Amino acid sequence: MADPALVEALVACGHDLGLITGAADAARYATDATRRPDVVPEVVIRPKDKAGVSAALALCHRFGQPVAVQGGLTGLSGGARVRPGEVVLSTERLTGLGAPDADAMLIRAGAGVTLQRLQEAAAEQGLCFGVDLGARGTATVGGGIATNAGGIRVLRYGMFRAQVAGMEAVLADGTVVSSMRGLEKNNAGPDLRQLFTGSEGIYGVITEALLRLHPAPGLERNALCAVEGPEAALALLRMLRGRLGGLLSAFEGLWPEVYDGACGIAGTRPLPLGSGLYVLIEIQAPKGLIEEDAFEQVLMDAYEAGLCGDIVVAQSRREFDGIWHLREACPEFTFSLGRLVPHDLSLPLRAIPEFLGRAREAVEAVDPVARIYVYGHLADGNLHYVVKSEMRAEVSAAVNTLAARMGGSITAEHGVGTDKKPYLSLVRSAEELGLLRRLKSAMDPAGILNPGRVIGLDD
Ligand code: LAC
Ligand code: ZN
Repeated sequence: MADPALVEALVACGHDLGLITGAADAARYATDATRRPDVVPEVVIRPKDKAGVSAALALCHRFGQPVAVQGGLTGLSGGARVRPGEVVLSTERLTGLGAPDADAMLIRAGAGVTLQRLQEAAAEQGLCFGVDLGARGTATVGGGIATNAGGIRVLRYGMFRAQVAGMEAVLADGTVVSSMRGLEKNNAGPDLRQLFTGSEGIYGVITEALLRLHPAPGLERNALCAVEGPEAALALLRMLRGRLGGLLSAFEGLWPEVYDGACGIAGTRPLPLGSGLYVLIEIQAPKGLIEEDAFEQVLMDAYEAGLCGDIVVAQSRREFDGIWHLREACPEFTFSLGRLVPHDLSLPLRAIPEFLGRAREAVEAVDPVARIYVYGHLADGNLHYVVKSEMRAEVSAAVNTLAARMGGSITAEHGVGTDKKPYLSLVRSAEELGLLRRLKSAMDPAGILNPGRVIGLDD
C-alpha cells in the first residue's frame, strides 16, 4: 500500500505529475512485453519534466516508497514489471525533441521520445539514428539507454551505449545530474553517463539525452541466403567483412523452425525450407560510392566460393522491406507459441556451432519433449534461444549455465531485469557484484529504485 500521505504530498507538490490512481487506468502499466503475471500499481507518476521527476523521487525517497521505473514497456526481462507495493514512475510524457544539429551530428531527446520519432526526425535532415529494433514504435530513448538496447544494426553502429553523447539523470533522492555537453572528447574525470547506461533504472532515472546521429545511407540493399549451418554462416561472415568492411550493416540468423514460422506470419517464403540456416544480410553505403550491383557481385562470389546456397536479393524497396518484415515476424512467431522459456544469449562467435549442439543435448536431458527455436543477431554472437517447455527453471538453468561456461553471457541485449537475476552470478564475479552493490548504496541508499532488479542492497 502506498502511504496516503505520500499520495497527498505528490498531489500537492506543485508539479504536473500526470498522476493515475484508478486501477482501470493503471492496468496498462502493470507489465512489460513479457506479459508475465503482474501487479496493477496503485499509483502511476508521469511527470511532464525533469523538475517533476526530481520532486516525485524526492518524496518517494523520503517515504521509503519503492518505485518501478518505466519507459515504453517493450522490455523482455521483467525490469519494468511491477512488484507488490511499488508505485510506477513513467517517463512517457518526457517527449521533448530538439532539431538535429547537423555539424555536431547530435540530437537532444527526452526519455519518453519513441525510437521511431527519433529516427524520423533524423531522416528529415538526411541523417539517421544507428539503433533500430522491431519495437521502434513504442520503445523509448530512456528505456533504450537504461537497458543499453541493441537491435539489428549493432554490427554497424554499436548498441545504445555508443549513441549517448550526453545525459541527464535524476538520482533516487531527487538530485539532478546533468552531463549534457555532448563533446566528442571530454576527459575531465570518469564518465558518469556510463553509470546509468545499461543500469536498468537501479542507479537513477534518465530524463534526457544527447544522442549521436550518422549520415543517412544513400544506398541500402538486403538479401536472404540459405547456408548449411552456423559454421558455414561464420565463414560467410568472415568473407563479407573482408569484402564489405564497414558497409555491412546487418547479419541476422534465422534457424529453420523460426524461418518457417516467420514465413507463415509474413505470408511469403523467399527461399524453400531444407537448409540448415537462413541469413539476412544488409549493406548501407553512401550514394554513388559503390556500383549499384556491388552487393550482388559480392554475394555471387560467396555463392561461387561455396560459402552459401540459394540467395534472394531484394530488387525493390518493397522486397527490401519484405525481407526485414520476415525478420521482424520472428519474435511475433515465437511469442505466438505460448508458454516459452526465452533466452537472450551472447556467445563468442567461434563457440556458436558447438554451443548449439551441446545446448540441445542439455535441454533434451532436462525435458525430452522440449522444442527449440533460435534466431538472432548472428554477427553480434547474440542468439534469441527460445525453448517451448513446461520446465522453465530447469531449462533456463541448463542453457544459461552452458552459455556462461562457454565464455558467453546470460543476456546480450535484453538486460537482467527480474527474470535473469537468478543467473547473474554465472557471468559476474563476486568482486564485480560487490562493486555494483556499493554503487547502488551510494546512489540509492534507501533502495527505492527498481528493487529486485539486477542487484539490490541486500543481495
Ligand atoms: C529481436 C528482439 C526479440 O531481436 O530482440 O527480435
Ligand atoms: Zn534481438
